[in-house]
Amino acid sequence: MAENLKIMVINGPNLNMLGIREPEVYGNHTYADLEAYIEEYGEKCSIEVAVLQSNSEGELIDFIHHTLGNFDGIVINPGAYTHYSYAIHDALASVEVPAVEVHLSNIHKREEFRHTSVTAPACVGQITGLGFRGYLLAIDYLLEEVSSRDKEIEA
Ligand code: DQA
Repeated sequence: MAENLKIMVINGPNLNMLGIREPEVYGNHTYADLEAYIEEYGEKCSIEVAVLQSNSEGELIDFIHHTLGNFDGIVINPGAYTHYSYAIHDALASVEVPAVEVHLSNIHKREEFRHTSVTAPACVGQITGLGFRGYLLAIDYLLEEVSSRDKEIEA
């Protein structure tokens, strides 16, 4: 597995309310639990993981821009912005850093407005409905992807 790799994990609006918001949908674990879960996995894989959250669209866009030249991959849960933020789509498309979109809940099982993601087309793929594990699966994918890309560059 690739070491010295840097992944930025970006969480959008209302994810700071995990543990309080709609526990029947999102469970009882808090945002701090999610951060710790991802950070522990980063340590286990010997990679650098920055876990960030914002409720503001502009700040999420600034996080994405900052990945350019500084991070090897992005894991993003854009929260409700998933369903209508063309600005976040364009930010992801601008940076050419591979991104995986993650949702805790299965957006396809929920209200109709959640079935559309305008941000996923700017990502390599989407993981939805697997809870916290989705973030780790997204990191695994990026690690494999970046290591095989690096091997191709070396060859
Ligand atoms: C979410 C799904 C979105 O529809 C919702 O607005 C969220 C969380 C998820 O992780 O399941 O805030 O992205």
